[in-house]
Amino acid sequence: MSYTSFSVENLQSMDRIPRLNLINSISGYKPANLIGTKSESGNTNLAIFSSVVHIGSNPAMLAFIMRPTTVQRHSYDNIISQKYYTINHVPADLTAEAHYASAKFKREQSEFEYCGFEEQYHDGFIAPFVKNSPVQIGLEFVEELPIKVNGTIMMIGAVKQLHVRSNILEKDHALNLDQADIATISGLNTYYRATKLAKYPYARVGQFPKAE
Ligand SMILES: Cc1cc2nc3c(=O)[nH]c(=O)nc-3n(C[C@H](O)[C@H](O)[C@H](O)COP(=O)(O)O)c2cc1C
Repeated sequence: MSYTSFSVENLQSMDRIPRLNLINSISGYKPANLIGTKSESGNTNLAIFSSVVHIGSNPAMLAFIMRPTTVQRHSYDNIISQKYYTINHVPADLTAEAHYASAKFKREQSEFEYCGFEEQYHDGFIAPFVKNSPVQIGLEFVEELPIKVNGTIMMIGAVKQLHVRSNILEKDHALNLDQADIATISGLNTYYRATKLAKYPYARVGQFPKAE
């Protein structure tokens, strides 16, 4: 199998867009999530994020990477001012709508309306969830970690509410994301459907994993 190799010098001398396309896809499939927020004046906002990661299970926490706040970032402003936000998985049949939510809409223009999503509210939570998303997570902002090397920010939130479509909840409480029919992302513009390969029990030395 032939490989194409890139040195640091090659990467640095590349044009911005091909470098961005290449480097944004080398971390592999990323989760596709829509972050829902509300401003102080009540405007709702929705944006797509591919950098959501698990931080811990007890207490349940998630993080995502926010681009540098050198330009207006509505999601960032709303999270900092209101403290509450939602993370919603993107259904595989709504990738165009989700991708559109990355466009630079004005603060008073809600991506819910412009991109074709419906707001949903649960149990007094102030931030809007995405209706029909199979996994809806309500979070309270807990900490921002500035990443000095490039000005990005790790935003950490504690899970306060969790709403999952009942038919994707397995007996052991793992989610069957294949069944959920959600999208995954490569780079900044390519969306995929992932299919389940196998599920294994806890790995132990001397016991080669056998699919359940
Ligand atoms: C596929 C995809 C993934 C993205 N992931 C992130 C991300 O992880 N972090 C981020 O800060 N912006 C990300 N963006 C960019 C935001 O969606 C974009 O900046 C958006 O306009 C932010 O909206 P806001 O100003 O309403 O918060 C992504 C864009 C696309 C198309």
